[in-house]
Amino acid sequence: MVEVATSAGRIAYGPVAPGDAETLLDCALGKGGGETLSLGRPQCIPFLKRQTRLTFARCGIIDPLSIADYRAHGGYRGLERAVSLGPEAIVEDMVQSGLRGRGGAGFPTGIKWRTVLQAQGATKYIVCNADEGDSGTFADRMIMEGDPFVLIEGMTIAGIATGATRGFVYIRSEYPHAIATMRAAIAAARAAGCLGPHVLGSSHGFDLDVRAGAGAYVCGEETALLDSIEGKRGMVRAKPPLPAHKGLFGCPTVINNVISLASVPIILAEGASTYRDLGMGRSRGTMPIQLAGNVRHGGLFEAAFGLTLGELVDEIGGGTASGRPVRAVQVGGPLGAYFPRALFDTPFDYEAFTARDGLIGHGGIVVFDDTVDMARQARFAMEFCAIESCGKCTPCRIGSTRGTEVIDRIMRGEQVDANLALIEDLCATMKFGSLCALGGFTPYPVMSAIRHFPEDFGASPRRLAAAE
Ligand SMILES: Cc1cc2nc3c(=O)[nH]c(=O)nc-3n(C[C@H](O)[C@H](O)[C@H](O)COP(=O)(O)O)c2cc1C
Ligand code: SF4
Repeated sequence: MVEVATSAGRIAYGPVAPGDAETLLDCALGKGGGETLSLGRPQCIPFLKRQTRLTFARCGIIDPLSIADYRAHGGYRGLERAVSLGPEAIVEDMVQSGLRGRGGAGFPTGIKWRTVLQAQGATKYIVCNADEGDSGTFADRMIMEGDPFVLIEGMTIAGIATGATRGFVYIRSEYPHAIATMRAAIAAARAAGCLGPHVLGSSHGFDLDVRAGAGAYVCGEETALLDSIEGKRGMVRAKPPLPAHKGLFGCPTVINNVISLASVPIILAEGASTYRDLGMGRSRGTMPIQLAGNVRHGGLFEAAFGLTLGELVDEIGGGTASGRPVRAVQVGGPLGAYFPRALFDTPFDYEAFTARDGLIGHGGIVVFDDTVDMARQARFAMEFCAIESCGKCTPCRIGSTRGTEVIDRIMRGEQVDANLALIEDLCATMKFGSLCALGGFTPYPVMSAIRHFPEDFGASPRRLAAAE
């Protein structure tokens, strides 16, 4: 889909091919044409209309690198209020907003900031996790490419709230456009006095740098990420100490995901209650849900928590791109569980997913049709863990390799029942014995595939009956 800015506002066209470029230029120049491709106003397209865009309000609307445009669309109002509030009151606002980390673990952002505010340290850091390694996710990239100042503003507010004066954005090396856009936006913010020794003319100093990632999934894990920024090989650190007490270069550090930090300016600008009023249960505000895989309408959909998985996949996503029935969806990246249609009534909410042995993670939903082989998917999860393991702890380093071999034996039909029992046992060891969530959560995709799709594992009729 391409949007053309016309005198009558933005008009969407699609699906477009390279040969349609001339027609689209004619539309932009007011010469008409393109009626067969026209989708009308973007905000009226059913897929986009049902969104509640808070974090992504400006994406696609402003010039990403124009600070004037950013300000004209409400940018920097949050920082202005933050400067007048001071650290304790900002942290209190964040706690009240109910914002939880969008990187995966869902930890309350305000509580993390309060820990860093109260930590002793001559230097404190704000680190933005833009490694975005989860399969089917792209929200971080879209915000960094489409509205980089909102992330810079969010990080600056985090700095003022906690007493941190320096920040790093750790962006995966596979995102060259995001890296370039962020670097240009940081330079523009510095030139405009929004970063530097006197943020917006105040006594608060804060400045930022970009670091390109090292190309490993585990470098998205917060402590391995810190090692990577420090120039070491990315290895997971044992906790405690928490990064909030002893993080980057041994100093108190806030590590937050891109979307967590990009959600901060609107909370400060509009007030905590505006944000908290959206959502359900303990999942407050909005979540950019990313629909990917074999789905008809793939893309980013920002909505308040609470829509069911079925609404997201069938109504918003429009089912599969292949037109075949949806058989499974993996939610929450490569460590997320596979959900069958029977669980499509699960609302998009941290606790509801946990109750069904799943996770929301970074909001990625990958759709599969009825041709998927769930034994292969389970094997893929184990193999992924084996390849990406940092090697620090035994359950993950050895367990994932042995697990891949056991699934291979199941797929070959060798002693299926005994090997299924063995994989269950191994998954329990990985879940409870691993140092971080890479080894600890790999059992989720493996066990959910076995539990919900036993017919794909060459299981004996007795086992199939037990699973029903
Ligand atoms: C193996 C692994 C990979 C991770 N990858 C990412 C990632 O790419 N981006 C991210 O924000 N968090 C990732 N996390 C979660 C981070 O460790 C951490 O919880 C997060 O950055 C904290 O920010 P938040 O509270 O704003 O979510 C990963 C965790 C693990 C165990
Ligand atoms: S679970 Fe895996 S990735 Fe995590 S610390 Fe252990 S070996 Fe490293």
